Amino acid sequence: MNVLGIFGSPRRGGNTETLLEEALKGAEAGGAKVERLYLSDFTITPCKECHGCDATGNCVILDDMGKIYPKLLEADVVILASPIFFYGVTAWTKAMIDRSQALWSRKYLLKDPSLGKEGKKRKGFFISVGATKGPRVFEGAILTVKYFFDVLNAEYAGELVFRGVEAKGDILQHPEALQQAFEAGRRLVQSP
Ligand SMILES: Cc1cc2nc3c(=O)[nH]c(=O)nc-3n(C[C@H](O)[C@H](O)[C@H](O)COP(=O)(O)O)c2cc1C
Repeated sequence: MNVLGIFGSPRRGGNTETLLEEALKGAEAGGAKVERLYLSDFTITPCKECHGCDATGNCVILDDMGKIYPKLLEADVVILASPIFFYGVTAWTKAMIDRSQALWSRKYLLKDPSLGKEGKKRKGFFISVGATKGPRVFEGAILTVKYFFDVLNAEYAGELVFRGVEAKGDILQHPEALQQAFEAGRRLVQSP
């Protein structure tokens, strides 16, 4: 089983990175092959809404997203981690998601069977943290991520989110968080 871990925070060694790393260790312990993708190492131009992908399912922008599409499609499980920035995912994460419009075109305009009901079934899991404690802090991001996973034919397998986490390392104040992330990763790679 191929697991793709997508690190959406530009802060290396930060809170979501710590959590995702634990989840990936859990997946590895469960026997999965894991790949790590640090989005801030890539140049991902925002979608230009040119509709260049409508007829082909391929994006016309030639940048590092070209390396990311195949990784998304090869994955059986995608674990996406992004902190909350202004009540949404980070700009790196959103740029990747918006550029997945090319896959949306494949699935919904071109009816590509590989992304349809008969195509490969994936699982998607979301990890996030936010500095504030508001009840609605994760709502926007979760909705965005659910629609991203839908394009990938990935069943939304759940989320692990923590409020009140701001400075680098704050997540370590939640001793149960790392264990929960590890267990989530291990659970995701178990057969249904
Ligand atoms: C540009 C920016 C916007 C942010 N917006 C929010 C926000 O809307 N709500 C919130 O709870 N935290 C917000 N935060 C705080 C981060 O979510 C928090 O510091 C988090 O722990 C960062 O995770 P990381 O260490 O994985 O990068 C924001 C931080 C930055 C830098």
